[in-house]
Amino acid sequence: MEVLVIGGSGQIGQELCRLLKSHQIHFQAPDRAQLDLEDHRTVVKLIEKWKPDVVVNTAGYRAAGNAQKEPSRCFSFNRDGVSNLADTCNKVGAALVQISSWRVFDGTKKEPYTEKDTPNPESVLGNSFWQGEQQIHQRCPRHVILRLSWIISHWGRNRATRLLDSFQDNGSPLPVFTSSHQRGCPTTAEDVARVLLAITQQIGCNSNCWGTYHYSAAEPTDEYTLAEVILAEASQYLDISKDALPEDNTERETVVNACLDSRSLRHTFGIMSRPWRSAVTRLVRNYFEQHKSSN
Ligand SMILES: NC(=O)c1ccc[n+]([C@@H]2O[C@H](COP(=O)([O-])OP(=O)(O)OC[C@H]3O[C@@H](n4cnc5c(N)ncnc54)[C@H](OP(=O)(O)O)[C@@H]3O)[C@@H](O)[C@H]2O)c1
Repeated sequence: MEVLVIGGSGQIGQELCRLLKSHQIHFQAPDRAQLDLEDHRTVVKLIEKWKPDVVVNTAGYRAAGNAQKEPSRCFSFNRDGVSNLADTCNKVGAALVQISSWRVFDGTKKEPYTEKDTPNPESVLGNSFWQGEQQIHQRCPRHVILRLSWIISHWGRNRATRLLDSFQDNGSPLPVFTSSHQRGCPTTAEDVARVLLAITQQIGCNSNCWGTYHYSAAEPTDEYTLAEVILAEASQYLDISKDALPEDNTERETVVNACLDSRSLRHTFGIMSRPWRSAVTRLVRNYFEQHKSSN
């Protein structure tokens, strides 16, 4: 099986490449200079040349704040780039595995979202993901869309590193990302890669598993609790007091729910959700090891 990974230098992409290598699955992971999703002609040319069996697209426009300011750039990437990719995969007979996001929902549901819930994106970013998904449905029947909740990793820009960086800076974290009104399932990039590998392997076995699935780590939580757990772990490496965490700074009364129900993925692929708390221990250790070696 030949796999093409797009976004191989990203948080999820790097972990996926590591796993594919350790499972001796042959893959290509061109960098953005080689394969830019917004450069439609090059995408077609390279995929026609390489003829992969499976394309896993982990690249995507992901900055929610910036998307509101530059919607055309966000749609050009998450809708038009994905649409061209779906057409190309269909043309060469490759299956497309595409990452999407909880942001296709409006966040108002009390329970975790299932695949049966109707998307109703509130933001430009959410809308771009939803439109990208619809393009895939229309253009490439052999697809798996994997919607994710919050992604965390020991590097890159995410909820965990923002908090850890601020502890490192001056012991007083930025007054963001500590809201008990933001609910989600912090899922490590490593865990997502494990799921992508399992999906890719199933596709390689010709299983008929096409469609949209949700995956998130087990145990929904809120940003404040996540920050408390990260702080407790970080206190092993830094002289930091419990007060370093600001009070819940939410002004917004409404809960925003980013939790996803992974049962359909479990039933179809046999993939169990892993708890996020134990993963945070490893994440924080890796974060400080990386900082020690770079200092
Ligand atoms: N982070 C979250 O909380 C979250 C939640 C749900 C879903 N997601 C989605 O999950 C996906 C992966 O997230 P991530 O955190 O792994 O992202 P990431 O670390 O920001 O990595 C993004 C990757 O995409 C590549 N890329 C950027 N623009 C590109 C372009 N025009 N053409 C080709 N490649 C391009 C980047 O290359 P460079 O190294 O050259 O920049 C990088 O390899 C994204 O679609 C994101 O929206 C994220």
